[in-house]
Amino acid sequence: MAKMAASIVEHGEDAFRKLFKFYKRRNPPPDLSDVIDFSKGVINGKVFCRELNTGSVSEAAARRAGLHPVEDWKAFGLHGYPGFIFISNPFLSGSQQYWVKQCLKVYPRKPNICNLDLHMSAEETQNIWEKSTAQISQKRSGKREPKTLLEKLRWVTLGYHYNWETKTYSADQHTPFPSELHTVAQHVASACSFPDFTAEAGILNYYHFDSSLGIHVDESELDHTQPLLSFSFGQSAIFLLGGLRREDPATAMFMHSGDIMVMSGPSRLLYHAVPKIVINPGADLVPQCLLQRSDVPEDSVVRRVSEQDWDVCTKYIQTSRINVTVRQVLGKGVAFPVGSADRSTAPSLNDAYHESSSEGEGGVDEKRMRSSSGDS
Ligand code: SIN
Repeated sequence: MAKMAASIVEHGEDAFRKLFKFYKRRNPPPDLSDVIDFSKGVINGKVFCRELNTGSVSEAAARRAGLHPVEDWKAFGLHGYPGFIFISNPFLSGSQQYWVKQCLKVYPRKPNICNLDLHMSAEETQNIWEKSTAQISQKRSGKREPKTLLEKLRWVTLGYHYNWETKTYSADQHTPFPSELHTVAQHVASACSFPDFTAEAGILNYYHFDSSLGIHVDESELDHTQPLLSFSFGQSAIFLLGGLRREDPATAMFMHSGDIMVMSGPSRLLYHAVPKIVINPGADLVPQCLLQRSDVPEDSVVRRVSEQDWDVCTKYIQTSRINVTVRQVLGKGVAFPVGSADRSTAPSLNDAYHESSSEGEGGVDEKRMRSSSGDS
């Protein structure tokens, strides 16, 4: 079976789509032995250790951002993918909990935009967390209840809000980017030798055990000289990294909770996809790194999560994964083209990009998340 994945990779035309389907398959489950696992630190013909810019972030600044000192980070590269950097969970114990809570409780709040805004009123999508926790607390065991708003959340946009219909960002669809996420993103970018990176837009993707994200490239940002940063929390995913053409073969790797991926330079515009969420096999379903006691200093931007909030986050994360991508949209001294202002105050399209029922057609930057009941 492992040979099956390898032969698909070598196959050439439409190799990516075949590999996507291979890993997405439920019955029989795919053999995952060809999937690179950076957490095991294995260096082989494909994986090598990457040097980071250890002097770029002081130890105190890293700790204040809830990160280990940069010199302790385990960073890897992949032969054949220059500019691709994989950092294996550099978070201090206890700090990932804060990011999970921010992604569930804070970032879905207005004025940020989420998929629910596409077909619900502003009043209905106010206080997603509060409404969901109220519903959870009234849940009677054994009874099948309607999904909470949290369970229905698929994406949230931050900063310059990505418009899924026009596939653009614009000056008038902008709200302040969260400062704590900006700080962490800037430290990661600096450690990867991009000291001028400015976090201007964020897309949060919420995956459940049966979700996947179709093959796409992130090219709507106006400056591709700056990297795309990707942070993962909760359940693991299989991530496929392809080439500059949609049909180019891809490499499969795990993204575990706390892992950070940096796509820069020649790897900034590579096609990629998430065919599968892999639920933690441990008895409590929560990844071990999310259960550890906090090592985060008192003066950190990362605040302690209350037990009550963490209870809700734990239930969510037992079957879900959250991915946060952070992007710089504008180059230095670059403005949006004149006349590009987006007149709408909220996206007008339905959320088909994330929940389409078919995979394989469509053009560049078509980004779709699906919760499915089988291969398409
Ligand atoms: C991921 O969920 O790891 C990828 C998200 C993206 O490509 O935007």
